[in-house]
Amino acid sequence: MTTTPPEVFSKVTELQGFNPFDPQTLQCPFPHYAAMRANDPVHEVGGLGFYLVTRHDLVLEVVRDPETYSNQFGQTSMPLPDDVRQRMMDVIADGYPRVPTMLTADPPDHTRYRRLVTKAFTPKVISSLEPTIRAITTRLIDSWIDRGSIEFVEEFAVPLPVEVIAKALNVPDERLADFKQWSDDSIAGIGTDLGVEGRLEAERGVNDFQHYFAAQLEERRSKPQDDLLTDLLNARVSGDDPPIDGATVADTRPLNVPEMLSILQQLLVAGNETTTKMMTEMIRLLAEHPDQWRQVQEDPSRVDKVVEETLRLSTPTQGMFRIATREVTLGGVDIPAGGRIVVIYSSANRDEALFSDPDGFDPDRANLKEHLAFGKGIHFCLGAALSRLEGRIALQELARRMDTISLPDSNRYEYFPSFMLRGLTSLDLDFTARSAT
Ligand code: HEM
Repeated sequence: MTTTPPEVFSKVTELQGFNPFDPQTLQCPFPHYAAMRANDPVHEVGGLGFYLVTRHDLVLEVVRDPETYSNQFGQTSMPLPDDVRQRMMDVIADGYPRVPTMLTADPPDHTRYRRLVTKAFTPKVISSLEPTIRAITTRLIDSWIDRGSIEFVEEFAVPLPVEVIAKALNVPDERLADFKQWSDDSIAGIGTDLGVEGRLEAERGVNDFQHYFAAQLEERRSKPQDDLLTDLLNARVSGDDPPIDGATVADTRPLNVPEMLSILQQLLVAGNETTTKMMTEMIRLLAEHPDQWRQVQEDPSRVDKVVEETLRLSTPTQGMFRIATREVTLGGVDIPAGGRIVVIYSSANRDEALFSDPDGFDPDRANLKEHLAFGKGIHFCLGAALSRLEGRIALQELARRMDTISLPDSNRYEYFPSFMLRGLTSLDLDFTARSAT
């Protein structure tokens, strides 16, 4: 079964005037991307001044060359009118400086930050979260398993990753609602037109997040705990580490508060929305493919394949910005220095040159691992192992507790109007419970 309505394909005859923010396009951009891959794989978006890179090989060419394609898009990706910029600066002044660390930094600074965080966010730390993830999953399922129907986004896909990352960051239960709000505020403006007031409100939320965690970090200076925050406070590049080529930041100092806040904010943001969207698409796809649902129930070892194919077909982080550091020719298109580029991971993941029947859901496809849902290269998703673990545990437990699943007619299948993050606003799910095993 294809997940793109075929009638939309026939409407895409040419790409002139393509607007990634068009409401209809945001609901289903895939036919446009398919047309771009075929005819115009580095597409300059008229009037908006950026280039969409849609083919798998070209996306790889960009992300493997951070010298030419910079991640320092923090200030330049969304231009603002002067008066709005001033109001924004005033709000931001109430918080800590927003400094680029991982996602919005380039080597050598990126190398250094990434190394520090990797040390705090080790495979051991992630696998130690397994019992917590299973306990949260079980509790959530227990709360609705007798009802026979749920709204899956609010009752499962949102709270699971929020609670997991909150546990990882040692946030107490009574602050969970704030924590979720801060996460929403942090991504509010990404790929979505929020309006001026909406953006200012979101920045105020980011300030609240900063003040909360700055206080928590301060507390741990005198009372260290066994948690990620304390690990960040203690993180240093020790003398035993191999030198970082050309490092510009002193290698042995601890992180300062704005740097730690920037790292925490990235863990918070990246850990929530993306995983929520992945979970929701996974259950939608399985409800649409009852044969696959049955196979997972009969053979739980299939969960990993289902998670990967969901990431390929319903890529939550659809794209990511890059800035050209010099004049460069990509896929035959000349891009000026300073040109803004969006690598469209969700399009690369449907590239017919690599994936046969690219719009189909096939967890058994041979080259599944070549999807780019977590990016590639030096910015490869730091939380990939965590979100895979969450996806695996969630699906194991859902398949163990639910017998049949189906999608009632009440569903409207509306996606959030963002061209960077793709996910359903809600998903009604009907099910029958399995007898206790
Ligand atoms: C299904 C879930 C997720 C998806 C689809 C996803 C996707 C991505 C992608 C595509 C990138 C690369 C950005 C680029 O190319 O510049 C990225 C980077 C990143 N992700 Fe994730 N992510 C997910 C979950 C998580 C989680 C759970 C965390 C942490 C708790 C996380 C933390 C990060 C961080 C810190 C970066 C920046 C890494 C760097 O710049 O070195 N992500 N993610």
